[in-house]
Amino acid sequence: MHGLLDDLLRATEAAALAASAWRGRGDEKAADQAAVDAMRRQLQSVPMSGTVVIGEGERDSAPMLYVGEAVGAGTGPELDIAVDPLEGTTICATDAPGALAVLAAGARGSLLHAPDVYMEKLAIGPGYPEGLIRLDDSPADNLGRIAEAKGCRVEDVTVCILGRDRHADLVYAVRETGARLRLIGDGDVAAIIQVADSASPVDVYMGVGGAPEGVLAAAALACTGGAMLGRLVFRDDDERARAARAGIRDFDRVYDRSELASADSVLIVSGVTDGPLVLGPRQAANFVTCDSRVYASGGRWERRQATYPVPA
Ligand code: FBP
Repeated sequence: MHGLLDDLLRATEAAALAASAWRGRGDEKAADQAAVDAMRRQLQSVPMSGTVVIGEGERDSAPMLYVGEAVGAGTGPELDIAVDPLEGTTICATDAPGALAVLAAGARGSLLHAPDVYMEKLAIGPGYPEGLIRLDDSPADNLGRIAEAKGCRVEDVTVCILGRDRHADLVYAVRETGARLRLIGDGDVAAIIQVADSASPVDVYMGVGGAPEGVLAAAALACTGGAMLGRLVFRDDDERARAARAGIRDFDRVYDRSELASADSVLIVSGVTDGPLVLGPRQAANFVTCDSRVYASGGRWERRQATYPVPA
């Protein structure tokens, strides 16, 4: 698996380069399509028998990188592949900080086949006692235990939440505790990765975002350490049917980090725009540099920079 990391990295770099050409152009769809095309093209030469378990959607609605699509040259190990070729389509379209090309991989069965619905998420970094966070506990209870375990006041804990109307009560409850709140516009994969990043002040991620993004973020925590809980959120019967087709039987289940992404998973992020984890592509006279992080098991991540000729 680890021998394939360089090949898989080329796929996120290709997606990041393609999407970055659309930075600040106000066209989410074109940016996303460019990333999808580039990632898929690159994945086809990787020596693996990959199956997309998280991708652009179901086969009838997504012609490329659809769930169940075979990717890779078909010669190497059998892998589950989860992709978000452009995480933060609006971020990219508005040239705001933090758009990423993201890919997770693991042995067959290592990544939850999450349907494209919402997921309630709660995540903290490494170093806390097991079982410290509980999805059904109030923010006050969870943040109280986190502060105690950290040896600080709740006021010194930083919580990150997506700024959405659906989070009004959650935001109110967190504010009541006195914790610091970082509200973000988009991009909860990066937000969850940051709970395990010592350079980031974010201690906790809370709230409802995409379920596929939840699995991708869990793959990073599988490498860095950290705890995460997730429960699928359904808005209607159609979403329940989608989950059933993805093999979900227990709709109320709370998944822990290892059920979302097992310990042998890897995650790669390449920058589309400058952000807290990586920079967007930098163009010089004849070449362009891509900035990426590769998360692999063992609690470490590696920064990787690669140069490519400027596309004609
Ligand atoms: P896209 O790249 O698909 O636009 O997703 C960005 C994102 O912010 C994710 O990080 C997050 O999980 C999801 O959207 C939240 O969905 P919504 O915008 O519907 O609240």
